[in-house]
Amino acid sequence: MSLRLGDAAPDFTQDSSEGPIHFYEWAGKNWVVLFSHPADFTPVCTTELGTTAKLKPEFEKRGVKVIALSVDTIESHKGWIPDINETQKTTVNFPIIADHDKKVAELYDLIHPNSLVNATVRSVFIIDGAQKIRATITYPASTGRNFDEILRVIDSLQLTDNYKVATPANWKDGEDVVIVPALKDEAELKERFPKGYKVVKPYLRLTAQPNKK
Ligand code: BEZ
Repeated sequence: MSLRLGDAAPDFTQDSSEGPIHFYEWAGKNWVVLFSHPADFTPVCTTELGTTAKLKPEFEKRGVKVIALSVDTIESHKGWIPDINETQKTTVNFPIIADHDKKVAELYDLIHPNSLVNATVRSVFIIDGAQKIRATITYPASTGRNFDEILRVIDSLQLTDNYKVATPANWKDGEDVVIVPALKDEAELKERFPKGYKVVKPYLRLTAQPNKK
């Protein structure tokens, strides 16, 4: 049974490149990006893990911890990490789950037999601080993910949680956002959006991004 938005992220204990991970304990109250890749020592995965390492400060700014996963052993991960560091000019600074027995892959439905037999697909789970799954994205093995897009989705989700706004198509940080349709109370609208908002249609109300000056 695949996981749906709003489901509790399954807890697990598994080996990783940084030692055993007790997932909920490791996550604490942070948000988490858990992402799977097909296998160690593969070209696209090498670029993805390097990109993630370089973006770690951006994830941290948002209170997000990152963790990767593939069906490989700790020894394999530890053999591959120096290649990532060397070729991507970075230092892998997050754990890679060594899911040698597919325990986590099965919990998160990461093996799609019509796609790759025995290898995890490129799935991303964005999990909030209450361990709820807030977004999932799945790419084929041949397409490296856009990690800026993953950050953009986190920004959007956190804006919704904190300010009751949603983000329109192709929104970028700093652009206008839309007020969630459920928010109708005039007093609350005034309090939340003191700089005002534009009513394009009663259901389409634009306002400046609330956490920007
Ligand atoms: C890669 O990471 O480069 C890759 C892995 C599996 C299939 C195709 C590409």
